[in-house]
Amino acid sequence: MTFEKIMVTGASGQIGSELVPFLSEVFGKERIIPSDVRPNSTDPRFIALDVTDRTSVDRAMDKYKIDTVFHLAAILSANGEKNPELAYKVNISGMYNILESAVRNKVKLVLTPSSIGVFGPDTPKENVPIETIARPVTMYGITKLLAEHLGNYYHARFGLNARGLRFPGLISYKTAPGGGTTDYSIEMIIEAAKGKNYKCFLRENSKLPMMYMPDALDSLLKLAEAEDSRLKHRTDFNVASFSVTPKELETELKKYFPRFQATYEPDFRQSIADSWPGSLDASAAVTEWDFHPNYNLRATVEDMIIHLKTSK
Ligand code: NAD
Ligand code: SER
Repeated sequence: MTFEKIMVTGASGQIGSELVPFLSEVFGKERIIPSDVRPNSTDPRFIALDVTDRTSVDRAMDKYKIDTVFHLAAILSANGEKNPELAYKVNISGMYNILESAVRNKVKLVLTPSSIGVFGPDTPKENVPIETIARPVTMYGITKLLAEHLGNYYHARFGLNARGLRFPGLISYKTAPGGGTTDYSIEMIIEAAKGKNYKCFLRENSKLPMMYMPDALDSLLKLAEAEDSRLKHRTDFNVASFSVTPKELETELKKYFPRFQATYEPDFRQSIADSWPGSLDASAAVTEWDFHPNYNLRATVEDMIIHLKTSK
């Protein structure tokens, strides 16, 4: 598959701010159109685009002759519980507008990250397969699950090449995370690297699946480029690199910062974490598009610390 003009929505966010340079390196700067409702003014390619505005989405796809969309614009889990109406609007109307405009503009591929948020308290806790009980109890999870189904529907009904993967918590250092439940992991590493202690908003034993950003970017590219004939799934691939509890992360950080200490004071985000699984079965991604993460917990923490030190 060749990608001539790639639009990234939500490009100012945690993933988008790294995906744009990554795709620019792979495909060439001129092929990438970063967009966001809060554009990054330092990049001349950036366009202001609110995905909930259907006319603007249509116009942008037509004007820039977009043939590929990485649709990242969304409201994440914790922010979604603070403002469920906004989460519904951005995650559902935004997704609908992107899919509708993609069909009209004959877009070749729409790739949308989904999330472990699609799972709920009835889902088994460990090694969760793609097809399982998925009854999310957050607005975020409900919208992400519906977005997966919308992608499948647009594929079946209109032949749109909609693809997606369920990311676990993503750890990175370049751009602050956007208000999710797994953000504690990034905050804890950053505070430890600053020589400070950290008050964690989850319990010390809340195990969640995680992934380091370079593996997430690689996964997005691999899924985008996967041969259609190999895909048995489309919008709901599980991916994860390792699972960790806050206490295990604290212990890992103590290897570098022996005086580092975390305290645990769970807030409203604890019930979100409690509703999510501790580990995922990513075998379909391995079989169907060669998913192969390179960073385990140790390598992630080590690389984060190296970069946080050099960016001081
Ligand atoms: P983020 O919150 O960091 O970035 C989202 C971006 O969307 C922000 O820059 C925001 O300004 C933009 N946005 C919000 N409303 C918009 C609108 N109406 N129109 C256009 N842009 C709008 O999120 P992220 O972490 O980069 O996540 C990107 C995608 O990956 C989301 O779909 C999210 O559900 C998914 N995901 C992320 C993680 C993670 O840990 N970061 C995990 C699982 C899934
Ligand atoms: N990291 C995301 C969140 O916590 C998972 O989708 O919302």
